[in-house]
Amino acid sequence: MNNKEAIAKILAKQTKLKEDEILSILEVPSNPELGDIAFPCFKLSSIYKKNPIEIAKELESKIKITKDLEKIKATGPYLNFFLEKSNLAIEVIKKILKEKEKFGTEKNKQTIMIEFPSPNTNKPLHLGHLRNMSLGESVSRILEHKGNKIIRANLNNDRGVHICKSMYAYEKWGKNKTPESEKIKSDHLIGDYYVMFSKAAKENPALEEEAQKILQKWESGDKKTIALWKKMNKWAFDGFKETYKLFGIKHDKQYYESEIYGQGKELAQEGLNKNIFIKKDNAIIADLTDEKLGEKVILRADGTSIYITQDMYLAILKDKEYKLDGSIYVVANEQDYHFQVLFTILKKFGYKFTKNLHHLSYGMVELPEGRMKSREGTVVDADDLILETQKLAKTEIKKRFPKLSEKELNIRSLKIALSAIKFMLLKTDHVKNIIFNPNEAISFEGDTGPYIQYSYARASSILKKSKKKPEIKLTSKILKEKEILLIKKLAEFPEVIENAQRNLSPSIISNYTLELAHIFNEFYHQTKVLDSENEIFLLALVESFRIVCKKSLYLLGIETVEEM
Ligand code: ARG
Repeated sequence: MNNKEAIAKILAKQTKLKEDEILSILEVPSNPELGDIAFPCFKLSSIYKKNPIEIAKELESKIKITKDLEKIKATGPYLNFFLEKSNLAIEVIKKILKEKEKFGTEKNKQTIMIEFPSPNTNKPLHLGHLRNMSLGESVSRILEHKGNKIIRANLNNDRGVHICKSMYAYEKWGKNKTPESEKIKSDHLIGDYYVMFSKAAKENPALEEEAQKILQKWESGDKKTIALWKKMNKWAFDGFKETYKLFGIKHDKQYYESEIYGQGKELAQEGLNKNIFIKKDNAIIADLTDEKLGEKVILRADGTSIYITQDMYLAILKDKEYKLDGSIYVVANEQDYHFQVLFTILKKFGYKFTKNLHHLSYGMVELPEGRMKSREGTVVDADDLILETQKLAKTEIKKRFPKLSEKELNIRSLKIALSAIKFMLLKTDHVKNIIFNPNEAISFEGDTGPYIQYSYARASSILKKSKKKPEIKLTSKILKEKEILLIKKLAEFPEVIENAQRNLSPSIISNYTLELAHIFNEFYHQTKVLDSENEIFLLALVESFRIVCKKSLYLLGIETVEEM
């Protein structure tokens, strides 16, 4: 039984309200000085036809103090309950120290696929992909923590007109250059040709048709085209692999558009036969005007497959292979329309699994300088951003630990850089657009990942310095304000995760972790743990903070460092 339930039970005995009714109106006062739980007396006022202020006063005198209740106080129309903190403290800390990183877990046992970041193979991963991967990995970990089986999947959009553009440019201007000859990361080389194409096509729009011609050749199996495609795609994949590794992403399943687009085309035909689609100017079209989604091309007039063609089949394949209870697509909100159309079409085909599909749509990432465009070559490449941020971290670490070995410096600076990037990308509600400022992200102060890592390291150092062992034993029952605040915040953790899971929202955990770190730092400044009266208990409290802080960061895909 939790505190609210216990209080509801007490109140039910004294009033005409049922426990459930009471539970639904109990509040947590925003000002902790007013108490831990408040019971508003307005409802009773209409039942007893009495002033709620009087009712609160009467209840105050009737209810007896128990060992879990420190005091009860009527304040205006509210009856405020103050819980006995030392008991609460002991219960919470006991639970955290016992369950450790399993604190707040459940056994949901659903099988859920999360697909991210699913790049196109014509250019390297950019800052937008970093937001995508941060979200995808964090949501995976949150759902895993709740006991689900997660399959991390990646769709490689490895064919289509976009890659034909890079291919065209490479053939025309590439002079057989290779990543080795140019000493450049292989996916960056492809990106350069994509930009080259886009610039040239701006001057000469006829080039767009040239790219489309290459696509037709590719679909008809032209040997030379396929060979070039293979060579360039390999460069893309090799490059992506490195970036995933650097960012800490591992997939359980890879899908390739080139392997499934054929079945997608068959589906387009099947939809036509079943009158789900219509033919218009030789193209196959879904008429979704009734659904207010307009008309959507499913297969081009020249017979070539497009983005949505393969996605229809992919959804079916995923469900067939894994019998999924849920399937989440982490994709930017530019594609909201695409997924509305996709899910509507699958429903028309009658696939029951459609109800399990979910587009986790997120906003754009902009730089302080403005919007990025891949085509114009004004994007920030993921690799560059990570390495630049790592440089900033190194400078900061060197100031504090000038004698650190090169190896340790590399490991630590990467952990801090990734924390800076991931936290910055996750702390804002994912539906919103964000402006990413690397210098702000890396700061050890402020609302940043490194600030939280720093708080964690501080906790570790307290434990290292003490000669005593943490124990759940209070010498003095009087706890200080910040100690109580910290305990209360730790107790919120399971509810926070629950909330984050329900909303598929890592930002809820980010904000919680930030508040937790703030409170810990206030506690740190107020309380001298070492040699204090309650030292062994406070050590247990610090250890609990470490456990919950580490787990929260883990759920955000962020690692801790022991010294900062
Ligand atoms: N490759 C696409 C892009 O870069 C995203 C793919 C998302 N996944 C999907 N199943 N459609 O825009």
